[in-house]
Amino acid sequence: MERTPQCPVFGNCGGCSMQDRDYAVQIELKKKELIVDFSLQKVGIKDDLKVFLKHEFNYRNRMDFPFSAEGLGQRKKGHFEKMVHFKKCHIANAGVQAVFDEVQAWFESQKDKLDVFDVVKTTGTIRYATIRSSFFSGESSVTFILNLDSLKIGEHKELIAGFAAGSKVQNVLIGLVKHNTDQSATPAVEVVKGSAYISERLGEKVFNYHTQGFFQSNSAVLMDIIYYIKDKVGAEYDTLIDLYGGVGTLGISLMDAAKEIFIVDNNGLNTSAGARNIEANNCKNVKFFEADAEKSSELGIDLAGKRSIFVLDPPRNGIQRKVFKYIKNTLPEKLIYVSCNPRRMAEDIKILSEDYELKDFAAFDMFPQTRHIEAVGEMVRKSKE
Ligand SMILES: C[S@@+](CC[C@H](N)C(=O)[O-])C[C@H]1O[C@@H](n2cnc3c(N)ncnc32)[C@H](O)[C@@H]1O
Repeated sequence: MERTPQCPVFGNCGGCSMQDRDYAVQIELKKKELIVDFSLQKVGIKDDLKVFLKHEFNYRNRMDFPFSAEGLGQRKKGHFEKMVHFKKCHIANAGVQAVFDEVQAWFESQKDKLDVFDVVKTTGTIRYATIRSSFFSGESSVTFILNLDSLKIGEHKELIAGFAAGSKVQNVLIGLVKHNTDQSATPAVEVVKGSAYISERLGEKVFNYHTQGFFQSNSAVLMDIIYYIKDKVGAEYDTLIDLYGGVGTLGISLMDAAKEIFIVDNNGLNTSAGARNIEANNCKNVKFFEADAEKSSELGIDLAGKRSIFVLDPPRNGIQRKVFKYIKNTLPEKLIYVSCNPRRMAEDIKILSEDYELKDFAAFDMFPQTRHIEAVGEMVRKSKE
């Protein structure tokens, strides 16, 4: 059923695409698409597939807002050079919205002094406010992205220091990016106030993540994913390898499932946060590797004669060719495949189905009001007869 969208810029904003449909209809559409993606690969999933849901609105813990002459907004759908403006983003969580309000009020009070970046001419100074706010811990950060090639960086740093001094936001950072790249985060950050890391609480565990690194955008749904995976994994393995492991949200949450846990991620911002997470959660059996998952076979992890399980949570382009090879050569007992791109996941599962059977499968609505959905599959090794 159609409905009136809550957001006045819906349809113009490049963010949401489904606010004009009842939430139940959104879920049905996503379910149907998922079933088609899997049936195209001839991988069977149940028609009555379970979809886990949490908050329909106010869920995102990260939003990247470009600046224009009117302050913070989003790009107009299909028009990179145009912006839409609003007082409230309906999918941002309450913490992100609070920081948005503060930055917008600051912008209004300082706009005569601020030099806003022009994306067509690629000149100007202030480009983005990238806001993060952990849903459960309430800790927030804002990173002001400035044009590295501007001659007005010094003045803007002073203005931002003024914002930080009067602001309730715990962590304020400045990132510099080249005029000819469109980036809303960068490892090259200066901390103006607080820290470059923020934390989230997931159940009884604490996770630090870098303000410029990866963290799942919907913590409440992430909790559901963790509970689901814990239930599927049990606690009987010698070795668990979490490939594409980020800051360890899955691997560390599963620390009681195996004697030794190895977490592999190729981004040093994530693995450095991971090292903090080992400390914060007193993990004696967890080790991070900053490495390409493709090189997993070269990390010296000995799986011979061990009961092992792999957790795989790749980016949208799916599992890499050499990772398939690693799985084929080591044949862990079980695979847990987590994906934000079920179409690609279905293709990958088709490849894995030579050696594995898809035993259970569920979807998680990590991204309400958009067409995206997260999925998790439990795959068990086929017995050789
Ligand atoms: C979808 S995220 C999942 C992270 C983590 N499982 C979580 O739930 O927070 C994918 C992760 O894979 C990492 N990544 C991307 N390409 C990679 C590669 N080739 N090798 C290792 N890690 C990679 C990214 O840095 C990111 O942290």
